Amino acid sequence: MNIIETFDLTKTYGFLFWKKKEPALDKLNIAIQEGLVHGFLGPNGAGKTTTIKLIMDLIFPTHGEVKVFGKDPSDLDVKKNIGFLPDSPAFSSYLSAYDFLNICAKLHQIHALKRRDRIMEVLAAVKMEKHRDSKLGGFSRGMLQRIGIAQAILNKPKLLILDEPLVGLDPHGRQELKDIIVEEKKNGTTVFFSSHILSDVEKICDTISILNRGVLLCCGRIDELLSVTGLRAHVNPGNDDCVKELMGLASGTIKLPNGSWDLVFQNSEEAMAKISQVKEKAPDALVLAPTRESLEEFFFRKVENSTDIS
Ligand SMILES: Nc1ncnc2c1ncn2[C@@H]1O[C@H](COP(=O)(O)OP(=O)(O)O)[C@@H](O)[C@H]1O
Ligand SMILES: [Mg+2]
Repeated sequence: MNIIETFDLTKTYGFLFWKKKEPALDKLNIAIQEGLVHGFLGPNGAGKTTTIKLIMDLIFPTHGEVKVFGKDPSDLDVKKNIGFLPDSPAFSSYLSAYDFLNICAKLHQIHALKRRDRIMEVLAAVKMEKHRDSKLGGFSRGMLQRIGIAQAILNKPKLLILDEPLVGLDPHGRQELKDIIVEEKKNGTTVFFSSHILSDVEKICDTISILNRGVLLCCGRIDELLSVTGLRAHVNPGNDDCVKELMGLASGTIKLPNGSWDLVFQNSEEAMAKISQVKEKAPDALVLAPTRESLEEFFFRKVENSTDIS
């Protein structure tokens, strides 16, 4: 089942005479499958926040439509099942972390007897238990981002929408956020998050889409989108004769502590022919796997090509 679907979704900001010529989002068609983590990627100004606001029913499309759980996003049942972290959330500085989450829990109509436990659970998930009684006004950007994430998962949503959740987090915080996303996915939650920070996004996404200047450049499974750039051969211990044969053609070699080797080859006829020859002679010595370009390489290739055309 598709959790989010957009049909020619278009948004042009402004009104009548003041309407901008260029749409912020131009005929977007995407389908997000249940239970997957989707990375919604694009440079600044690409139209990511605009799309998220349309999904969240915070602004209205100029043309086209969006369906969430197969329904109009204004449907109350839809809203109840979404957890949302906006791109620049504002917090009341005089509230403590606990008090803020308590208000959110009341808004979500979490039963009074379960509220405290659930708040402590989400504070633990974002590693903020120690700060439960501190005022939000004294929190750093990263700490506020964690509280924002805590409120987004408070109602155990079926769909989690996060707008630039990695911004403001240090590498450690980013890793923890990724762990939370993976954990949410394990619980069956569909996660849709936007990002312009690509490094290690690919490790947690099942599917991605790339947007540039309001136009969708691609959408699909990450392993199908990234091109194969070569081959990695893992040579089991005790097969040094195979390593000797192949080493000269490899672009990278690593000897592992257990005596096995990892050899990396670029796509070349000579290398591929030699590998299949060695594999034929000693089928159990080698384990082969394709190597792919990184998401970063793919992203810049796509975005630069689309910018060249316009
Ligand atoms: N409220 C608004 N009024 C006018 N233009 C807007 C508004 N919000 C966003 N835009 C414009 O729409 C485009 C897409 O913005 P946005 O969706 O925020 O991109 P992203 O989140 O990918 O950085 C940008 O050119 C931005 O300047
Ligand atoms: Mg944005």
